[in-house]
Amino acid sequence: MKLAVLTSGGDSAGMNAVVRAVVKAGILQGCETWVVREGYEGLVRGNQADEHQDAILPPPPPEVRVKDVNFLKNLRFGDGALLKDGTGDLPSGRTLKGRYIVRVGWDDVRGWLTEGGTLIGTARCKSFRTPEGRTAAAYNMIKEGIDALVVCGGDGSLTGADVLRSEWPKIVGTLREQGKISEEQYKLHGHLKIVGLVGSIDNDMSMTDLTIGAPTALHRICEALDNINSTAISHSRAFVIEVMGRHCGWLALLAGLSSGADFIFIPESPPETNPWEDEMCAKIQRHRHMGKRKTIVIVAEGAVDKELQPIRAEYVKDVLSERLGLDTRVTTLGHTQRGGKPCALDRIWPTLQGIEAVKALLEATPQTPSYMIGMCENKITRIPLMEAVAATQAVATALQQKDFAKAMSLRDPEFVD
Ligand code: F6P
Repeated sequence: MKLAVLTSGGDSAGMNAVVRAVVKAGILQGCETWVVREGYEGLVRGNQADEHQDAILPPPPPEVRVKDVNFLKNLRFGDGALLKDGTGDLPSGRTLKGRYIVRVGWDDVRGWLTEGGTLIGTARCKSFRTPEGRTAAAYNMIKEGIDALVVCGGDGSLTGADVLRSEWPKIVGTLREQGKISEEQYKLHGHLKIVGLVGSIDNDMSMTDLTIGAPTALHRICEALDNINSTAISHSRAFVIEVMGRHCGWLALLAGLSSGADFIFIPESPPETNPWEDEMCAKIQRHRHMGKRKTIVIVAEGAVDKELQPIRAEYVKDVLSERLGLDTRVTTLGHTQRGGKPCALDRIWPTLQGIEAVKALLEATPQTPSYMIGMCENKITRIPLMEAVAATQAVATALQQKDFAKAMSLRDPEFVD
């Protein structure tokens, strides 16, 4: 099997661990391993250079580090630093210019476990959403002989992979008719194997307990809140902290619980009352009367009131200042939540999930559904991808319909209103 791995959508800590695990597990299973740079954009662009990647790979170094000869045929000794500098030429003469689909070996992913972001790049790609873009992507994959794809990204990115898979037979037929691929290539590439891993700090995917990068982002927010706490106490101030999460309140809720916040605004559970200002002020006033010297309010970026009107951190600040007379500041944590080194969980889980992804691909048949690798109650799981996507969309629909109890129970089946 020739398998390629790509990362797509917003980066998240742990994506490099996924790539590393897929490459290493793939090699150990006798696969040829490739990475696609810049997400789907790289698949659509493909490799502009005519020479096959083999032609520009450096020769293996004299010292062989792995003893088992079965591994050797698939191990390739790169620079170890491959891709880290994005597009530049490497000392070995290997170039990445004009190459988006790159064959990689064991050493190429050395040291990636501890790196933040995604070293192979990511993008939110518009062209892949068009049939022309997907046809180009399929052609570029077939040109390199790739028949299996691992995608690490959010629900949109994973849906994109499933769409490509379902359109694949038709696309391949068209490419043969157009004479772009040979009869042999057509026969070899009858179907595409795909598997998805959920990389997102938002933890907004249903049917998996934790998305890759969410634990690290939560940890980052908690660290920031600890820092804010000490200055807030010193000045007896109020802080309104805006956190990421798109339409999901997981980061805000868990960060609030971990840091003893006074009030938390999340999309799935708006304040009881509308308008909500009195409710918030009464609670914070009570905490102040109990002797608290600081006030922390956390606002998820997607927070809304019961009428779906956005709740903005700046407005919350004005309410706290004007109604309670609190000296209030707003801190928007922004992309500090997303970057930086992965925490231990975002090294271990993505590694185990990457290994499972390779297994799922090796076992895939045209009849098996596309799988999403998730985790549930501390176990790695394989879930039909489109079931998970549908369950995630059901949450969005419930929120649009203002059915917040349903949204909460869909997010967490054990939730009781
Ligand atoms: O989905 C991850 C996420 O970080 C969201 O929490 C946030 O809304 C969005 O991406 C920010 O996207 P960008 O980095 O494109 O501004």
